[in-house]
Amino acid sequence: QRVEWDLEDAEKAGYEHFMLKEIHEQTKSVYNTFAGKLSELDGSINLEELNLTKKQIRNLTRIELIACGTSYNAGLIAKYLFEQLAGIHTNIDTGSEYRYRYPVFCDSDDVLSIAISQSGETADTIAALQSLKSSGCRTLAITNVMGSSITRDADDVMYIKAGPELGVAATKTFTSQLTILYLLAVHFARIRRNIDIEESRNFIKALKKLPGNIQRILNAKDTVRKYAKQFSEVSDYFFIGRYMNYPVALEGALKLKEISYIHAEGYAAGELKHGPLALITEDTPVVAIATSGHTYDKIISNIMEVKARNATVIAVAEEDDNEIEKYVDLVLRIPKTDELLSPILSNIVLQLLAYYTALAKGCSIDKPRNLAKSVTVE
Ligand code: G6P
Repeated sequence: QRVEWDLEDAEKAGYEHFMLKEIHEQTKSVYNTFAGKLSELDGSINLEELNLTKKQIRNLTRIELIACGTSYNAGLIAKYLFEQLAGIHTNIDTGSEYRYRYPVFCDSDDVLSIAISQSGETADTIAALQSLKSSGCRTLAITNVMGSSITRDADDVMYIKAGPELGVAATKTFTSQLTILYLLAVHFARIRRNIDIEESRNFIKALKKLPGNIQRILNAKDTVRKYAKQFSEVSDYFFIGRYMNYPVALEGALKLKEISYIHAEGYAAGELKHGPLALITEDTPVVAIATSGHTYDKIISNIMEVKARNATVIAVAEEDDNEIEKYVDLVLRIPKTDELLSPILSNIVLQLLAYYTALAKGCSIDKPRNLAKSVTVE
């Protein structure tokens, strides 16, 4: 008897889509990103591939981040990490905007430019990195693909080691980008003596718990599926967050629009009153990322603003948050972790939300219309 099988199905390993497989792989891919780099004993991060001397790291006055799409959202989160942990002033731009700007450098020797590109082939990111290099900045590329074009242009290369990603929508590579950017920020912070051994050890401990925490989110995916289905017929969605949860909101909205074709906007929650509140009605679900931290009370106020316009609010909140249910309609839970790492966990919930929404709508999840995995032309 002849057995019919298809290579693509075999590669999906029983999952209906590559995207779902890749979402599930994150327990391993995040581990692979940090494996061999953490030394809990002395709180140091071993980044052998980075050829910057301690003196160069101490002298850094500025970081210029360049990326596109989902990688850009990873860069937005990294800006908070580099500024808060390492005390380095950080700018970020998309490749397509940076390459037509006229940036000002006082002393480009003290500037590190970091290009983040999953594929290492995005034309705009590469062009921006080349332009930074020609202004005299040191360049670092963070990518997933060995030998990709960007690795030939950068002085240093760090690989995220997330493994091949076949779904057009980036999932596991985003969380691995965040993981490596976190390692880099802690490394810089230690060398610049912005954090002490104890703080660094705590970060390392929190990082090591990530795979287990990710698994817990995946175990609860049926709740996300239920809510996703409930709202799959709406025409607009809002995602709001403050502080590091603002870029999490941007990425949540990007993922939803990419694969479900629902119009979705990510917004800094404090900016709602400067425009988008006019669009909030009972027909616009609002996803509020409400993890604990110094902006928690602020996001609660913003949730009340949208509730007053009759929106249904779905919160992403921590398991031990018993307050949140008073303010919102539905809650998606994530395990408690270090505040700076929580974007990784919140993002995985939003990946699942996008995936199950697109599934309920019968969309072409792995190959969304009009989109390509990597954009190699301007
Ligand atoms: C395309 C992909 C996105 C990706 C972006 C940047 O738009 O569809 O998923 O985030 O390119 O790609 P890069 O490979 O540079 O990270």
